[in-house]
Amino acid sequence: MNIVILAAGQGKRMKSALPKVLQTLAGKPLLHYVLNTALVLQGKNTKIGPIVVVGHGAADVKQFLQVASEQDSNLTRVSTVLQAEQKGTGHALLQALPKLDVNEPTLVLYGDVPLTGKKTLTKLAKLADGVRGQDAAVALLTQHLQNPTGYGRIVRDIEGSVKAIVEEKDATAEQKRIQEINTGIMVLPTNSLKKWLKALRASNAQGEYYLTDVIAMAVKDGVPIRTSQADAEYETVGVNSRDQLAALERVHQMNQANAIMDAGVSLADPARIDIRGTLECGTDVFIDVGCVFEGCVTLAAGTTIGPYCVIRNSVIGKSVTIHPYSHIDGAKVGANSLIGPYARLRPGADLANDVHIGNFVEVKNSKIAANSKANHLAYVGDAIVGSRVNIGAGTITCNYDGVNKHQTIIEDDVFIGSDTQLVAPVRVGRGATLGAGTTLTKDAPPNQLTVSRAKQISLQWQRPVKKTTPKAAAKKASIKKSVKAKK
Ligand code: UD1
Ligand code: CA
Repeated sequence: MNIVILAAGQGKRMKSALPKVLQTLAGKPLLHYVLNTALVLQGKNTKIGPIVVVGHGAADVKQFLQVASEQDSNLTRVSTVLQAEQKGTGHALLQALPKLDVNEPTLVLYGDVPLTGKKTLTKLAKLADGVRGQDAAVALLTQHLQNPTGYGRIVRDIEGSVKAIVEEKDATAEQKRIQEINTGIMVLPTNSLKKWLKALRASNAQGEYYLTDVIAMAVKDGVPIRTSQADAEYETVGVNSRDQLAALERVHQMNQANAIMDAGVSLADPARIDIRGTLECGTDVFIDVGCVFEGCVTLAAGTTIGPYCVIRNSVIGKSVTIHPYSHIDGAKVGANSLIGPYARLRPGADLANDVHIGNFVEVKNSKIAANSKANHLAYVGDAIVGSRVNIGAGTITCNYDGVNKHQTIIEDDVFIGSDTQLVAPVRVGRGATLGAGTTLTKDAPPNQLTVSRAKQISLQWQRPVKKTTPKAAAKKASIKKSVKAKK
């Protein structure tokens, strides 16, 4: 099947420098969704991959395709054709004609209609098939709307056969009352389509070449027109404005929330979770309100995520507790660990089982072995930390000398006193204790107490008393008096 995605329109109502199809839904451009659906529908056997008709912001759209296909090789199958001037949907499809395989039907999708289901499109394509003695047909995806204003209307005869599509601006008062609308998504026999598109004229209210005019041509040629509907209304909803984009985002997020609840996840409020990527969960995961998941995140069984956490590209093990307001990016967290509140795990944070990372602790590019703790106000960067290590409050690995990053190695069973600076590269031997306030610039030997601290002294001393003038004293006295009077 040929698939052409119309994406040349400007999207004026978005009032954006970005072409409309690059506006994002759950963190990904609208066009990304349509392309993924197209690629899945086509499989790998089709000669020509999806064709995108670009126009407004063509350079940006091509740039997006370039970058995206570097990450996903499937997208290298996608090609573009330029519609230099936007003269209508029929004119847009005409630009793709030379690329189409005439032996295959053509599916038309819109780049700004992101959530059409694969099932809906497969059903539509089947309807257009000439199988079992039936002639190849035109298949239209239509929708019944309470308020059809703005859409093309499906005109049927008294027998119910589709005769034409009439655009809102060209419709008679009677036609405007028709509630069955054209979603724009259709499948057409390509050979006939060639002929029809070339015969289109722009003699209508908008002076455009309407793709919808091919329907009356098909009727004239005796080609059957069949229709079907999507299971859900959101599948055919296009984005024209920012409020429509926001509304579709909520629909999409609710669908994702329902999917993970079906898989055994509890959500404090399915309306207050945002998944921008893929979230894989084991059973009995609990997610509190306001959490955002980005990229690929895995939460193993029994894990609890507190309110307002942001988790990106991370793997969280079994029965972990992430306390509120934690920010986790590119990290691995082992089973039974406790993270946060207000913890920050940055890329390369690799925590084994039963690790505790508490409030205002930042961990970056560091391996922390089982049963180790950093519970308060610390920075652990470019470090290797052994098992059963206790990192005291205010401990800092000084990993950066202004030019290069250096490593800190902390062996098993080390105890690091509060407010310690480890000036890397440096090693703390197994079982060592660092006294509070130590600035460690040389390796600390195992099993000893290492401390760097100025000697404590005590002196006889008189705390100074504040000097005062007679004027200041009088003022103070008068303020005291007025306060008393008010009481
Ligand atoms: C179109 C349909 C209308 C249908 C509605 C559904 C026509 C004539 N009308 O109307 O029946 O109810 O969609 O939303 O087909 N595009 C181009 N090049 C162009 C014009 C449009 O690529 O020259 C693309 C747009 O980027 C968009 C799609 O085609 O993705 C639809 O264009 P739009 O202008 O939104 O069509 P409507 O007037 O809403
Ligand atoms: Ca539209």
